[in-house]
Amino acid sequence: MASSKRSPVHAPGRAGMPRRAYAVGAIAVALAAALSGCAPEPDDHPEPKPETRSPKTEPAPTAAPTPTPAPEPSPTPTFDAQAHSIDDPMSIWVVSNKLRPLNPVDFVPSDLVMPEGVVNANGQPLREPAARAVERLIADAAAAGHPVQILSAFRDSALQTSLYESYIARDGQAAADTYSARPGHSEHQTGLTVDFDDGSGCALEACFGGTAAGTWIAEHAAEYGFIVRYPDGKQDITGFMPEPWHFRYVGPELAGEMRDRGVSTLEEFFGLPAAPDYAD
Ligand code: DAL
Ligand code: ZN
Repeated sequence: MASSKRSPVHAPGRAGMPRRAYAVGAIAVALAAALSGCAPEPDDHPEPKPETRSPKTEPAPTAAPTPTPAPEPSPTPTFDAQAHSIDDPMSIWVVSNKLRPLNPVDFVPSDLVMPEGVVNANGQPLREPAARAVERLIADAAAAGHPVQILSAFRDSALQTSLYESYIARDGQAAADTYSARPGHSEHQTGLTVDFDDGSGCALEACFGGTAAGTWIAEHAAEYGFIVRYPDGKQDITGFMPEPWHFRYVGPELAGEMRDRGVSTLEEFFGLPAAPDYAD
């Protein structure tokens, strides 16, 4: 069984008129009568006037105020489950697990940038949309009283190899496979994943999920487009032990949809096979 301490993978250094009343009807009648040389009939001589006037002496139809149409209701955003590929490694919805290696296995994203205005222990970059989202998340977490830092972000295939092999050496392969992805299978290689720490002594530990910061991030992650990728009770589906510090950017649409539907894993959401183990 793997030790709960697995910081080497992630450890710092390594890892929405009023209308005016219109009296124009009466005014228009009087005006039309004046223009045609006729005075308006006084109200106390009500006998009907023979209809001898030419049609053009008829008062012009009064333009009734055009009713202002009610505002169109905003269209309800409809979730499009085909909006992004789950296979393309450059897709924000790519699903990487033990049965779904990145293709190519040595994939490197083309839009890596360094998140700004954050503490980034390993100085690792992220894909641009994830970096912008994490900057906002960290700023808002701090404003809410929960300062957090990035422990680990993008890791290339070579670094993942080095880490994975070091865990095998330490804990044996069976144990390592419960907490460290093989190269080509790590979400960190997508550049869309962040490990957070709040400095409270729960770095890369299960207890991070119980910290105020960990709780705040988990509650608000979807607003920023992140999900907890390895939730409690889902190891038989995701293949990995719970990692309450490991957040995967999938964009706010998917993250919000998963939250609203109460589906916590990408495998379940996309109807993919559970991936508890590697194929080989
Ligand atoms: N700790 C996660 C599973 C990784 O190595 O990518
Ligand atoms: Zn991680």
